[in-house]
Amino acid sequence: MSLINGKEISEKIKDEIASRVREHTASGGKVPHLAAIIVGNDPASETYVSHKVKACERVGFRSTLVRIDENAEEQELLEKVSEINQDDDIDGLIVQLPLPGHMSEEKVIETISYKKDVDGFHPVNVGRMAIGLPAYLPATPFGIMELLRRSGIKTKGKHCVILGRSNIVGKPMSLLMSRKAEPGNCTVTICHSSTVDIPGTCRTADIIIAAMGTPGFLKADMVKEGAVVIDVGITRVKSDKTKSGWKLTGDVDFENVAPKCSHITPVPGGVGPMTIVSLLENTLMAAGRKIYT
Ligand code: GUN
Repeated sequence: MSLINGKEISEKIKDEIASRVREHTASGGKVPHLAAIIVGNDPASETYVSHKVKACERVGFRSTLVRIDENAEEQELLEKVSEINQDDDIDGLIVQLPLPGHMSEEKVIETISYKKDVDGFHPVNVGRMAIGLPAYLPATPFGIMELLRRSGIKTKGKHCVILGRSNIVGKPMSLLMSRKAEPGNCTVTICHSSTVDIPGTCRTADIIIAAMGTPGFLKADMVKEGAVVIDVGITRVKSDKTKSGWKLTGDVDFENVAPKCSHITPVPGGVGPMTIVSLLENTLMAAGRKIYT
């Protein structure tokens, strides 16, 4: 069994990005600039955004953090997005989700210029990804593709079972794993809440991507010997073994599943660290006008 060390791979990619930024700016190119908008003070969102800002510093990007009050009108957020859309110095823009209930995430995402949509959530980027055109890919699926690539896992002709059909992980993951590319070229099955036989389906899988957000869902008797298992789950569960009183738990019963796998990602330290790297990759592409002019 080989452990896929997402933390180590992500640090290596950050070093690569930092050196690309140095080369780019040394030859007169502009410093990549990411703007992040956070609405309110949700603690998880605060943590995610501060990690994103720190990651920008680490690779030599500029970052701008915009704070909007929890009780602000939706219009205020939309106006800020439009202002950043017009700002030629800013290459990429993300609005941290979730938003307060009185704001429409759909409307906000559609207001972001698709050319700056480094989260890959705008329908133009989703549609372009679906038909195989260059697009900003959403962070988690992009990070998983990079983990597979850098771990040398061959995917062509394999059966990939994806647990979960969310717009930000399951659905885009199914498109990427089935596209004509490496990694890719898989026969893909998506399991969801109405799937009749999830254990039986998983047992036929060469690659399982667990992204439904149910801690410990994937058990050893659902996994074929030699399978590759990618765990996207990150649920905080209570624990009396940690100082904080909680720990991050994946969707995979790691202890029992790992011995059967050829490769597996841990939680934490597997998929998680790769998501910020994807955001940095997208921002670098935006700064270099690699996808849109
Ligand atoms: N909230 C949870 N994940 C994400 C993400 O990838 N991007 C944004 N903008 N918000 C999130």
